[in-house]
Amino acid sequence: MKKCLIKAGNGYEVTVGSNLAEELIGYLKSVGFDGKIAIVSDSNVAKLYMANLRKALIDGKYSVATMEFPEGEENKTLKTYEMIMHFLLLNEIGRNDMLIALGGGVTGDLVGFAAATYMRGIRYIMMPTTLLSMVDSSVGGKTAVDMQEGKNLVGAFHQPVAVFADTDYLRTLDENILMQGMAEAIKAGVIGGKDLLDLISRYLDTRDGNILEDIILKSIEIKGEYVSEDEFDCGRRKILNLGHTLGHAIERCTGYMISHGEAVAIGLNKMVDESEKHGELPAEEGTLIRNILIKTGLKQDIPGNISSESLMDAILLDKKTYNDKIDIIMIRRIGDCYIKQIAVDDFYSYIE
Ligand SMILES: NC(=O)c1ccc[n+]([C@@H]2O[C@H](COP(=O)([O-])OP(=O)(O)OC[C@H]3O[C@@H](n4cnc5c(N)ncnc54)[C@H](O)[C@@H]3O)[C@@H](O)[C@H]2O)c1
Repeated sequence: MKKCLIKAGNGYEVTVGSNLAEELIGYLKSVGFDGKIAIVSDSNVAKLYMANLRKALIDGKYSVATMEFPEGEENKTLKTYEMIMHFLLLNEIGRNDMLIALGGGVTGDLVGFAAATYMRGIRYIMMPTTLLSMVDSSVGGKTAVDMQEGKNLVGAFHQPVAVFADTDYLRTLDENILMQGMAEAIKAGVIGGKDLLDLISRYLDTRDGNILEDIILKSIEIKGEYVSEDEFDCGRRKILNLGHTLGHAIERCTGYMISHGEAVAIGLNKMVDESEKHGELPAEEGTLIRNILIKTGLKQDIPGNISSESLMDAILLDKKTYNDKIDIIMIRRIGDCYIKQIAVDDFYSYIE
């Protein structure tokens, strides 16, 4: 088991390891928590893991209410958010109680937003169950729901009080979903340095599960550095969006048939090409990143049926454009990415 500290909000610990229910209860006791706990999970995860977590908390002498919602990005909506609000009200959850998000990034984003707004804000704990949510979305306090007009357009910054990334959960994850998380870890490696990319490459060659714990911890440490420095995403934290401007647009243009992690892999691959083309990223480093991306088995190219025009329309709806300008993240070297502001129209040359 390993831990790292995120210096955002009131500061919180991320624990990475296996069999972490005891740790969770230890944490609750250590902060003197004696209120009710509400666990929210999606339908897949609830079937697999809700009963055990609930029992562990009840054995720890906590009163627990549980709720599940239908799985999938298409349910990261105001409708599900409203269901969570009614569930919390019906169970008389108060400001001193605790929410737990048990699930992937969809659950974490939804429950985080519910925690940010319910009774003007209550505490919540992230228990991520996908690799993507372990290496990325459970940390940093970005919470949101999707709107018909685009992804994550309604949300809030609200940091969790603790994160428990239990690698046992990863055993039931589909290979493709595991690899979607790997795309975010590769992104963290490109931003943070070659050590993480080496670990990922070793994992992809050997499938040695022990390496996953280190991949998760290192990815979170890299994200944590940016989040601590720029909690509200006004400056340097934007670097974590490497590959995401294009990624979000691809998700939207395919009606979310291409998932977040899959789209990030394509977006990242494209930014590697562009960083090379603009004479910045040395070819051998570009090749190294591309080879690791290929090993994930994820798609690498923008689907042929999406036009540049529809991608641009989607990009204009994203939160990253203002005054006809767009911030994109370029790669100078592995471990050295930077924000480049370009005219929105110039982005055409990046996606054609
Ligand atoms: N807030 C942030 O900083 C941030 C960062 C990156 C991504 N995100 C968001 O995260 C979401 C994507 O997250 P995701 O890829 O985890 O998707 P997800 O939560 O939809 O999970 C993917 C699928 O895996 C299933 N699943 C989850 N855990 C499982 C387990 N242990 N065993 C078997 N099945 C399991 C889920 O039911 C779902 O069907 C997107 O909405 C994206 O916008 C947020």
